[in-house]
Amino acid sequence: MRRKVVAGNWKMNKNIHETANLIAELRERMKDFKNQVDIVICPPYTSLVVAKSLIKDSPIKLGAQNMSQYDDGAYTGEISAKMLTAIGCQYVIIGHSERRQFFKETDELINAKIKKALSEGLTPIVCIGETLNEQEAGITDKIITTQVKGVLHELKAAEVEKLLIAYEPVWAIGTGKNATPEQANQVHKLIRKQVGQIYSWQISEKLIIQYGGSMNAQNASMLLSQTDIDGGLIGGASLKADLFMAIIQAGAEASG
Ligand code: PGA
Repeated sequence: MRRKVVAGNWKMNKNIHETANLIAELRERMKDFKNQVDIVICPPYTSLVVAKSLIKDSPIKLGAQNMSQYDDGAYTGEISAKMLTAIGCQYVIIGHSERRQFFKETDELINAKIKKALSEGLTPIVCIGETLNEQEAGITDKIITTQVKGVLHELKAAEVEKLLIAYEPVWAIGTGKNATPEQANQVHKLIRKQVGQIYSWQISEKLIIQYGGSMNAQNASMLLSQTDIDGGLIGGASLKADLFMAIIQAGAEASG
């Protein structure tokens, strides 16, 4: 059975002091946590070093929200995969829809970033998802299959085994409108089937596919108990310890 992975995408929220407070609150609530779920937090770059020291000896793992496709050099404002591993980051979100929308990231660039992340030993959380227009036009499946093909281009089977996919319908992100559990599960099945066709059924059966988009304390149980939903990428609700913990608990219960 696949382990559930619940990851908090803090986006451009929480300065270094607020980071320390939120981690302290999370740790307090995790005292009796039995480790049934993998927990990741992805604070902004400026908080990563401090977060790493504050999560020591806790079940929380550290991720970044983005990285460069380059190793080093004259790329003002960028952060490399090597810089992330040097501070103990294990995960990195790649291709979030906000990066696609506001920073014009393409499947091709996302593919290059995934390859770089994997070559440095980071675990990419690769985001895909259709926009509202695409959903309304009834082309969700076409968009998803195009994105899966694009982001996984020329990745070897051994590499695909090391990444996670997050299905995040863009119309559900930060809007309070989540996909219904059945709707989301159907897309997850589609992704799994496609990965199975490109690679193998063994690989697709092991692939962790998270759902993201207005997951909260109320809807987490229903979403996380679907057959093909293996966790969540949580934005807004990851900024409050109570709400994030409720989702983690729902993941633990859904894991049985
Ligand atoms: P949300 O964000 O939970 O606030 O909708 C999810 C995400 O963007 O990863």
